[in-house]
Amino acid sequence: MNLHISEEIEKLRREIEEHNYNYYVLARPVISDNEYDAIFSKLVELEKQYPQYASEASPTKKVGAIVIDEFRQVAHSVPMLSLDNTYNEEDITQFDSKVRKIIGGECGYCCELKIDGVSVALRYDKGILVKGISRGNGQIGEDITEHVRRIQSLPLKLKHEYDMEIRGEIYMPKQVFEKVNKTREEDGSEVFANPRNATAGTLRQLNTSVVRERGLRIFLYNLVDARSYGCDSQTESLKFLAECGLPVENHNEGNMNLDRVLKFWNEWNQKRHELPFDIDGVVCKVDNFNFQELLSSTSHSPRWAMAIKFPAEQKESLVENITLSVGRTGVITPVANISPVRLAGTVVKNASLHNFDNLYEKDIRINDFVIVEKAGDIIPQIVRSLPEKRSGNEKVVEIPAKCPVCGGETGKLSQDEVAVRCLNPLCEAKLKRTMEIFCSRQAMDIEGVGGKILDLLVDNKLISNLADIYYLKEEQLIPLPRLGQKSAKKIITQIAESKCRGLSNFLTGLGIPLVGHKTARDIASHFGNIERIISASQSELESVNGVGEEIALSVMKYFSQPSTKDMVKRFDSAGVKMFQDNELKSETLSGRKFVLTGTLVNYSRDEMKKIIESNGGIVVGSVSGKTDYVIAGENSGSKMDKAAQLNIKVLTEEEFFELLGN
Ligand code: IVH
Repeated sequence: MNLHISEEIEKLRREIEEHNYNYYVLARPVISDNEYDAIFSKLVELEKQYPQYASEASPTKKVGAIVIDEFRQVAHSVPMLSLDNTYNEEDITQFDSKVRKIIGGECGYCCELKIDGVSVALRYDKGILVKGISRGNGQIGEDITEHVRRIQSLPLKLKHEYDMEIRGEIYMPKQVFEKVNKTREEDGSEVFANPRNATAGTLRQLNTSVVRERGLRIFLYNLVDARSYGCDSQTESLKFLAECGLPVENHNEGNMNLDRVLKFWNEWNQKRHELPFDIDGVVCKVDNFNFQELLSSTSHSPRWAMAIKFPAEQKESLVENITLSVGRTGVITPVANISPVRLAGTVVKNASLHNFDNLYEKDIRINDFVIVEKAGDIIPQIVRSLPEKRSGNEKVVEIPAKCPVCGGETGKLSQDEVAVRCLNPLCEAKLKRTMEIFCSRQAMDIEGVGGKILDLLVDNKLISNLADIYYLKEEQLIPLPRLGQKSAKKIITQIAESKCRGLSNFLTGLGIPLVGHKTARDIASHFGNIERIISASQSELESVNGVGEEIALSVMKYFSQPSTKDMVKRFDSAGVKMFQDNELKSETLSGRKFVLTGTLVNYSRDEMKKIIESNGGIVVGSVSGKTDYVIAGENSGSKMDKAAQLNIKVLTEEEFFELLGN
C-alpha cells in the first residue's frame, strides 16, 4: 500500500514538472490551469497526509515563503569568469583571426543570445537541485538556493540522476518588469531602471517568495566539465541540458563562420524587440571543446568567447511639456511629453519621469533637449538632459502643492517615500482609474462603460465610490452629453448584468495593489466568498498558490480600511455576487474524490468539476486507492484499467446525476 502511495506521489511530481516545462519553457501548456491546479492540490494533499515521503525536490516546495536571515558566502568550484565585450565588426574580425591563428585553421562558432540578467551557478546532486550561488566576485558568491528554488521554470529534479554544475542567467520577462514597475510607481516606491536591476533587486530580498511573485525565469548556457557527460562541443552541451529538462534559450546556432556570426548579430539587433525578455547582445563561442582548451582563459575571461553587444538605441528629442498624472493610489507622476521619436519598434511621445526626485536629479526641464531610450526595450525613459543645448527658455517644474485634478492637498505618506500624492481620498482621478479597472473585461466586464463615460459619471458627481455604479438610474444618465435614452438604457442593463460575474472578477475589479486577474482568481477559489477573504490572516492568505508576503499584506491593508468595508456592504445590498460559482450548494458529495476521464457528452470537464465541487466533492487528476468514483465519458483510456484494478466504481454521466439526486 505504502509503496503504491510513494509511487503515486512521485508520479504526480513528474507530471507537474512536465507541465511546468511545457508552460514555462516551451510556452505550450497541454492542460488547463484548472487541471493543473487539481493535480497540484492532489500532490499537496498526499504530501500532507504522508509526510514520510516529503522531498525537497517536490515542486510543491516552490510555493510558500522562506525568509532567510542572511546570504551565506560559498566558494565557486570553478571561477565564474566574465566575457570580453565588443561593439563592432572590426573587433569581431580581429577575435576570429586570433582564434584561427592559435588553433591553426578554420573554426566553427556557436552563437547564443546574451540574456540581460544576473548570472548564477547551480548544483544538482543525483539530479536534485541542491545549491544556487550568485556570481559574487567570481571566486566566492552568495547562497541563493532558496531563491532559485522558487523560479517556476527551473526543475527541482532533473530527468536524469546526474551530479552536475551548470551556469546560467536569471532574468525577469519584459512584461513582468513592466507590471512590477507600474505597481511600484503607483505604490510610491522607486522604480527599477531595467529588468536586470529588477532581477538583482528581487534576488537580494530575504523573503524568497518574492522570486515567485515577481515571476523570475532562468536560462542555462554553461555545463561545467561538459566532457564528462559525453559532450564534445558547446552546441552538444546545450542539447544535453535541454534533454535533462533544463530551460535553454533555443535561438542558439552552431557551425557558424565569421560571416554568419556577423549576420546573426545584425539580425538579432533588429529582432531583439520581439523577444519576451531583454538581451544586450549575442555571445560568440568557439564550439569545439578541444579548441576551447587550446585557447584557454585569462584570469578574467575565456579567450574562446566574446560578447558582441548591441549599441543601446538612443534618440534625441525635445521635452515639449511636463504634465502631471494622478494614479489610482493618488501618486502624482511627472510625465515628459516629447517630440515623437521612433525607438525599438514604436513611436514614443511620452516618457514617465517616475517621481520628482528623479526629475530633479536628472535636471529635466520643459523645452530641454534630452536623450531617450527604452528600459528593457519597452518603457521609454529619459536618460539625461543636454544642458549644453539650453537657450534660456527652459522651465523647471515645481512639486505641486495642490492636486492637478481635484485641487486637494498633496504630500508624502511617510518621510522615506519618494512619491508625492494627492491626499484627498475622494480625488476624482483616483476614482476614474479604479473604475476603469472595475469595468474592464477581466473584471466586471461592463460593456460600453469605459474612459469617456466614466469621466462623465465622475465629473457629474454621479459616482463617488465603486459601488455607486450599481445605484445609477436611467434618468440620471439621459441628460449627460452624447448619451440619450437608448444608450442610457443599455448602460443600465449592462451594469445590472455585471452583478453576477462572481468573486474572482469582482476581486480583480477592486484594483487592490499587486492583485491582478490571476492572483484574484487564486484567492477567490481558495476562500470562496468575500467574508472569508476579509477576515483571512496573513498566513491564510500566504497559503494561496502564488501569494507571498507582499501580496498578503496588500490585501489585508485594503480590507482593513473602514471605507472598503462600507463599500462591500453597499455592493452586497445592490445584489453583487461576491462568492464563487463553485461555492457549496450541497454537501451531498462531501469529501468524495472523483476522477474524470474520456470525453463527457453533456458537460465540459470544467463544468463537471464545478458541479462536483459545488456539492462538496473533490476532483483529482489520477486514479488511486483513495479515489471514490471515476466518471467515464467516451474514449476513456488507462484510467479505466486502473479503476478496474483498484476496484473503484465507474459512473456514466447519468449515474453521476442519479448519485447527486437529480
Ligand atoms: S557564457 C565563461 N553565455 O553575460 C563565460 N554568458 O557579460 C561564461 N550571459 O557573466 C559566460 N547570456 O552572466 C554566456 N549565452 C550566454 C550568456 C552569458 C548572458 C552573461 C553572463 C556573463 C555575462 C558577461
